[in-house]
Amino acid sequence: MRRNFGAKPLTYPQPVFIIATYDDDGTPNAMNAAWGGISEMTEISLCLSAGHKTVKNIQKRGAFTVSMAEAAYVAACDYVGIVSGNTVNDKFAKAGFHAVKSQFVDAPLIEELSVALECKLIDYNSDSCILRGEIVNVSVDERVLDTDGKVDAAKVAPVIFDPFNNEYLKVGEKVGDAFSEGKKLK
Ligand SMILES: Cc1cc2nc3c(=O)[nH]c(=O)nc-3n(C[C@H](O)[C@H](O)[C@H](O)COP(=O)(O)O)c2cc1C
Repeated sequence: MRRNFGAKPLTYPQPVFIIATYDDDGTPNAMNAAWGGISEMTEISLCLSAGHKTVKNIQKRGAFTVSMAEAAYVAACDYVGIVSGNTVNDKFAKAGFHAVKSQFVDAPLIEELSVALECKLIDYNSDSCILRGEIVNVSVDERVLDTDGKVDAAKVAPVIFDPFNNEYLKVGEKVGDAFSEGKKLK
């Protein structure tokens, strides 16, 4: 037997993207977004409500970064998802985040979060809420690289959003090699 949950936005896994932007006066801001994903080789699509400070900032600056939420910073990552920069101007600092300007786009990187996409705005549709960004660079803090220079997911400790239970879950153990496990069934 299967149980029906209806027409709802429920998938596993959902990302916990932390979108960072600069305000008019250079104040950094960040928000949490679960509805989004890669939509082309160098493109990310997000569903962002038009009223968010983040959207206004992106429209003005034409840029944003997308960091992956990490287990060690789960409170900060949640905080930026429940408080708006429209009302709390120093939300980024209150989260305990530190901004460093991207070398590639007019947006801040978050020092505390080790993996980030650096993006330029392609377009935004306020009716559908779909915002598309061009990924112009991916940067990773060296602290999460292994001795071969590869990203070590265990060091990043990214978290996912569980929309069934409104919980953040740490990404778990390796269960197989992508593009390879299925070969045994060919
Ligand atoms: C787990 C979680 C997921 C969220 N996902 C989205 C999302 O995909 N799109 C969106 O517009 N808002 C989403 N939000 C809400 C925004 O993060 C929130 O409204 C935030 O305060 C907006 O900040 P800003 O006004 O400073 O940009 C999410 C919040 C949480 C906690």
